[in-house]
Amino acid sequence: MQHMIVYLNGDYVDIHDAVISPLDRGFLFGDSVYEVIPVYQNQLFAEKEHLDRLTHSLAAINIPQPLDHAEWVNIFNQLLSYPHEGDRMIYVQVTRGAYAERLHASPAAIVPTIFVAALPVTKKDVSQGIRAITVNDIRWNLCRIKATTLLANVLAKDAAQRLDTHDAIFIREGFALEGTASNLFVVKNNHVFTPPLSANILPGITRQLVIDLLRQQDIMITERMIAATELVDADEIWLTGSVSEIVPVIMLDQRPISHGNVGIFYKKATEWYKNNLEKHYA
Ligand code: PDD
Repeated sequence: MQHMIVYLNGDYVDIHDAVISPLDRGFLFGDSVYEVIPVYQNQLFAEKEHLDRLTHSLAAINIPQPLDHAEWVNIFNQLLSYPHEGDRMIYVQVTRGAYAERLHASPAAIVPTIFVAALPVTKKDVSQGIRAITVNDIRWNLCRIKATTLLANVLAKDAAQRLDTHDAIFIREGFALEGTASNLFVVKNNHVFTPPLSANILPGITRQLVIDLLRQQDIMITERMIAATELVDADEIWLTGSVSEIVPVIMLDQRPISHGNVGIFYKKATEWYKNNLEKHYA
């Protein structure tokens, strides 16, 4: 990695000098949560929503919120002020901290580890659609927490890539839930569906924004469970995420979706999404 200034526990240091103890519980137990905040024109997008979600993730695993909103935003803007090339995103990780012993139970007197970086992003052109597979959801039961314990997501993404596809959609008890790092939308007969918020999916910031934008345009959009069998004859399938935005899936498990072309609803939704961004930064 190139030289880059990152924030670690109160200091701004070169990434090569950023040192974390091997006894850190984030390393030992994956005892840690994170956020990814998109950046456009070197400015934060939807940082309030992302910081609110971070607050929920921290509360869910009983890590005290280490900084307030203004302090977080100051760090983000400080990191964005350094010279850089290309697109970036803000990555935030808070672990429970390092402790002298490897104890499963979390010690009371422990200071969270805070790491923040403006990491480079390679944006791919997905406007022609991607190929995806479905995989059995072997994740835990609290996927609404943005935890760094992402082994099942890593294995699912690797499985997708081994099959020369781009992503995987998790199926649990017959229902399609979300992608490895994205929420799921399905279009059928001019009606858009997305799984309702539950313990089993991440409450995506992009998901909510897309729902709001579709509602503003009077598109029929319903939050309801989507049976895996419905994916097969869906008119369109999209995956949404903060950095990837809206990604159309045109092949699923080697079968074409909407005849292997990107659909009209995807095109409209993307246009509204881009317009919304433009309005935001005008
Ligand atoms: N992932 N579902 C999962 C499992 C995710 O990991 C993500 C985001 C989303 C989309 O959430 P949002 O719209 O708030 O980005 C849904 C991030 C980007 C990541 O892990 O890098």
